[in-house]
Amino acid sequence: MKNVRVMLGSRSYDIFIGYNILNNLSDRLSNLSLGKKVAIITNPKLTKLYGGVIYRQLKGAGFIPTAIEIPAGERYKTIKSVSKIYDILIKERFERNSSIIALGGGVIGDIAGFVAATYLRGVPYIQVPTSLVAQVDSSVGGKTGVNHPLGKNLIGAFYQPVLVWIDVEVLRTLPRRELIAGMAEVVKYGVIADDRFFDFLEENYKKILSLDQEVLIHLVVKSCEIKSMVVSADEREKGLRAILNFGHTIGHAIETITDYKMYKHGEAVAMGMVCAARLAYTMGICDQDVFERTERLCRLIGLRTSIPRLEFATLWDILHRDKKVIDEKVRFILPVRLGEVKIIEDVDREILQESVQSCYSNDNFV
Ligand SMILES: NC(=O)c1ccc[n+]([C@@H]2O[C@H](COP(=O)([O-])OP(=O)(O)OC[C@H]3O[C@@H](n4cnc5c(N)ncnc54)[C@H](O)[C@@H]3O)[C@@H](O)[C@H]2O)c1
Repeated sequence: MKNVRVMLGSRSYDIFIGYNILNNLSDRLSNLSLGKKVAIITNPKLTKLYGGVIYRQLKGAGFIPTAIEIPAGERYKTIKSVSKIYDILIKERFERNSSIIALGGGVIGDIAGFVAATYLRGVPYIQVPTSLVAQVDSSVGGKTGVNHPLGKNLIGAFYQPVLVWIDVEVLRTLPRRELIAGMAEVVKYGVIADDRFFDFLEENYKKILSLDQEVLIHLVVKSCEIKSMVVSADEREKGLRAILNFGHTIGHAIETITDYKMYKHGEAVAMGMVCAARLAYTMGICDQDVFERTERLCRLIGLRTSIPRLEFATLWDILHRDKKVIDEKVRFILPVRLGEVKIIEDVDREILQESVQSCYSNDNFV
């Protein structure tokens, strides 16, 4: 089993990564001086797959588990789901030292983390991420929250877990499309922080897609190390943490234009990364090689890399309405070389238009 530590002073915590380790979670929990009551927040599909393993071992270890289900899907990442969970915790008399386990993908992790941040002004929580996105990204770093009808992730809190427990074996049951979409965030880490990791992904993408155990563990460890390094340096996104948004500026705009219905987040991020790399090349910030390798790796993994044709004026408008816009300046994270990015504000409209249009494919948004 591998271990990555997120260094945040008194809020530091361990991420454990291994194969077939779901069974050993309660041993680790017993060392954390938690109260007896534990809520397992998950969805019906994951209850069937993994809920029993967690529930039984907690009981066996002397905990009092309560299973709480939220229907699967982004549309349930709402304050209503949070409220439903509060009701159960209050009825079951959960106390300050009671804890919460988030068993699921990013949706469950974000909801459960937000409940933990706010119930009784904060109770300990443990992330047991089951999707690739959650294992390499959302379970680490303490961003928790829910959507509002007027926008995604508008309600939330920074609140760190006390433990992250990652069993890569559970990726065997993850739908293929989810796995591939999750890989976009992994490619992102290579581009923003580690060229050797990028090489590793190029050399091993076939093994990744066939779920080779050792390769998966290395991939998750490396991703968690990079995320943890960035979060430790800038927990509340005052500076460096913004580099994690590489590919997200245009990616978010594509998600908005398509009303979040056409593409998974990672799929939109992949298009956004390729477009950002193209922009960097057009602006003379990086070599052509950086753009070409980013595009090629995404394509080999099975991610779409060309953007369906869209009205540039609409894209420009949406970019300026994003919640990350400060003083009307759109911020782009652009690669200087593989493993290094810089933050650029005020990109020229015509250069952006040229870069976006050179990434167009032949189909249109419907
Ligand atoms: N907090 C953060 O820092 C952060 C970072 C990135 C994304 N997010 C959030 O994460 C969410 C997306 O997360 P996601 O991509 O994991 O989506 P998700 O949580 O909806 O999971 C995707 C689907 O896969 C299923 N699933 C998960 N694990 C499975 C497994 N092992 N076997 C079978 N099915 C499984 C889920 O039930 C769901 O249907 C978004 O809401 C996004 O805003 C948060």
